[in-house]
Amino acid sequence: MTRIVLATRNHHKAVELRYFLRDLDVEILCLDEIPEEIELKEEGTTFSENALQKARIVHQRTHLPALADDSGLEVFYLNGAPGVFSARYAGEPTDDAANNAKLLAEMRGVPPRRRGAQFRSVLALVADGFEEVTEGACTGRLGESPHGMNGFGYDPVFLPDGFNRTYAQLSADEKNRISHRSKSFAKMREVLRRRFAIG
Ligand code: IMP
Repeated sequence: MTRIVLATRNHHKAVELRYFLRDLDVEILCLDEIPEEIELKEEGTTFSENALQKARIVHQRTHLPALADDSGLEVFYLNGAPGVFSARYAGEPTDDAANNAKLLAEMRGVPPRRRGAQFRSVLALVADGFEEVTEGACTGRLGESPHGMNGFGYDPVFLPDGFNRTYAQLSADEKNRISHRSKSFAKMREVLRRRFAIG
């Protein structure tokens, strides 16, 4: 059976990626299950550079196919911020509540029609002899205040198009049907089918 290592330390991302991989004939490993300590780095200026960097590090160390996600929220009024800095928008270490508070403060008084935003996810798969990258986006708008308890990150402040609820007010199934990550994964599913005959 094909084994794939998830190159992430974000528990929520790992849960979502496992959900997308659940019906495939593949053994999924987390970084916690790898005996050696692997430090993930994100030094790029784009989602795809960062996703590739994480997947390459894990593949080099484990010699297994490695799947990484780099993602974030782009607010059009803020010229794409927080973008690649989404995780550390309010500083380090990552603090979701502080990130949301900072973003809502930056957007205070901005009218609904100018609150458009999109989540983006770039997935990178690095294995022996090849590298593949896929992308997905979900457009929507920023709320005025956080709502909902599900999910993680900016979920409580993002209302996807077609919904009057935030990502954090959707069930995991609902989010996983429409999310940026579901779209990048749909393309990665085709890659897995082509490269490993799974999917
Ligand atoms: P990364 O580890 O650099 O890819 O950081 C991604 C950051 O973007 C996370 O820490 C979140 O703040 C945000 N993010 C990415 N995907 C999601 C999502 O599905 N929901 C909410 N926030 C997300």
